[in-house]
Amino acid sequence: MKRLGVLLSGRGSNFAAIADNIVQGRLTGCQIAVVISNKADAAGLVAARERELKALAIEARGRKRAEHDAEIIAALKEHQVDLVILAGYMRLLSPEFVQAFPERILNIHPSLLPAFPGLDAQEQAFNYGVQVAGCTVHFVDEELDHGVIVLQKAFPVHEGDDSQALAERILEQEHIAYSEAIGRVLSGEYRVVGRRYVRNAK
Ligand code: GAR
Repeated sequence: MKRLGVLLSGRGSNFAAIADNIVQGRLTGCQIAVVISNKADAAGLVAARERELKALAIEARGRKRAEHDAEIIAALKEHQVDLVILAGYMRLLSPEFVQAFPERILNIHPSLLPAFPGLDAQEQAFNYGVQVAGCTVHFVDEELDHGVIVLQKAFPVHEGDDSQALAERILEQEHIAYSEAIGRVLSGEYRVVGRRYVRNAK
């Protein structure tokens, strides 16, 4: 049974979708070992406690990144985490963090990367006038929203969509995509080749 460590900063709907998929048997072979937030008041922490999962706040405010990250790395190691899941974790990871979990940190981003990295990707995409939108699950490397893509979901933007409606439809896809991507990574059936995530030959 692989152990997931979830990092989040806010609402935690991606975390909740993953937790529900595990409970309902749609994502197998793993369990959530710990949920950690850099914000003590994150709604995602409340949702984790409601599910009787281990939930920790490790506040970032007023601390150096390396020091804060070291504490999170220690907590993840203490809980013997195999795969780190960034689920709306709105903080850049230090190189030390990335190196502590090589090819073992996933992130979800609400755009079809490399388009619209950074904050408010859904609004960036809408304002740009894209006709196809989506989300990306990728490995985390030392650059922002940059690592190897594990899985993307794409769909057409409707004529009547406003920014809010588009964001909602992207989120719906995120909730499906993240569990699928975790399943793919844990399956052991894929490997990273350059920038590609490819299925091993049978
Ligand atoms: C999600 O839309 C996720 O893709 C985005 O934050 C939201 C978190 O929602 N992440 C990023 O923009 C990372 N660059 P949630 O807390 O409800 O899962």
